[in-house]
Amino acid sequence: MGEYAPINGSIDLPDSKSPSLILTNPTSEERLETWNLNSVNWGTALPLPDYIERERYLTTVPLARDGGITHWVLVDRDLPPNDRPILASCESLRKPILVSKDGVITEGITHGIGSVFSQPKFRGMGYASRMLKELAPVLKTWQVDPDTPGHETCPFSILYSDIGTKYYAKFGWATFPSTHFAFPPSDSSSRPDVRPLTYHDIPALCTLDEQNLRKELATAAKDGKTHVALIPNHDCMQWHHKREDFVTTKIFGKSPTIKGAITGEPGSLIWAIWTRAFYGPLVPKSGNTFHILRLVIEDETNSEENAQKLKGILQFAQAEAKEWRLNEVDVWNPSETLKKLVDRTGVENKYVVRDAESIASLMWYGEGSTEDINWFANEKFGWC
Ligand SMILES: CC(C)(COP(=O)(O)OP(=O)(O)OC[C@H]1O[C@@H](n2cnc3c(N)ncnc32)[C@H](O)[C@@H]1OP(=O)(O)O)[C@@H](O)C(=O)NCCC(=O)NCCS
Repeated sequence: MGEYAPINGSIDLPDSKSPSLILTNPTSEERLETWNLNSVNWGTALPLPDYIERERYLTTVPLARDGGITHWVLVDRDLPPNDRPILASCESLRKPILVSKDGVITEGITHGIGSVFSQPKFRGMGYASRMLKELAPVLKTWQVDPDTPGHETCPFSILYSDIGTKYYAKFGWATFPSTHFAFPPSDSSSRPDVRPLTYHDIPALCTLDEQNLRKELATAAKDGKTHVALIPNHDCMQWHHKREDFVTTKIFGKSPTIKGAITGEPGSLIWAIWTRAFYGPLVPKSGNTFHILRLVIEDETNSEENAQKLKGILQFAQAEAKEWRLNEVDVWNPSETLKKLVDRTGVENKYVVRDAESIASLMWYGEGSTEDINWFANEKFGWC
């Protein structure tokens, strides 16, 4: 499907600046073709039919269904659907956000761009660049609706670059701090004060988290900066967990029921919600990772009590990582207090400043420049 007729032995391809190229949505057959093509990059933890099944399944979970996910392709407008080469492809996933400016909070949506892809034979010809240049302004109004509460505005779009800090910045997605702690998997005995979190516990904790986040944003420094955050809500967590359940069921024949851990009393709780991510076979070089999606320290002070609570959560995570054969436990973008607390726990760790993979990037559509944006709670739960 979708091969241009060879002319003089070579394929006649349009210039990436040609007006005949358009950004559009693929047919379901074309979407299947993109999954088949990009499986080489993102499907290596599973056999191909399982990867395709996973991608299809992930369009049906709450965050993605009913238009939550949109698939995009760059194609020639003069060629018929299902018979045109897919020059580049990607997807966008709609997520709820909060923006705080001078203490006033507004709700909105963002679109997280993922799976940016161009098939090897079309690379280096500017097609992915053309697609991204077209997509950037489209997302500003995509699914924005003044009559749908929470969907009145899309003040920014995001992505997580796996190809360094420069490529997407060229188009206006500015890079943001992208650091993490990595803790090794290890055996550890369970502590009675640290309780596991299961599916049942997640919705109420997400609601509490959002309430606290709104307060934090409302009182964030009125320094002329705009503070933004993706809402760490249940749908976002569930998207990761459904993916995790699908993949672990294929690999291990079972899925993990423990989705996080919590300790402490109301007002001084510490909890982590996590997911197990498999990028390839169960060998270290696959980089399979136990990701803390969101770490909440309700009373964020550098105290010995908090250090002991945190230690319990981290050790729980390390033991789970070992059980599920993951390489490391990662916690993204730790705050200054969290850094000090980790230090106090004495738990072995590596602090990583990423410059190649999962670089958090944001394009600001509002007034002012991206330099005036402070991205709050920039943790793994926002990744797509
Ligand atoms: C990344 C990708 C989409 C680029 O597609 P493309 O159509 O070749 O891109 P363009 O022709 O528009 O741009 C080419 C530029 O991308 C850069 N680029 C491509 N792959 C890159 C990589 N892995 N790291 C850094 N830069 C890269 C090229 O160096 C080139 O830079 P230049 O314009 O300064 O010469 C394509 O290489 C691909 O599908 N890769 C595999 C999947 C992937 O890694 N996607 C990105 C996920 S964040």
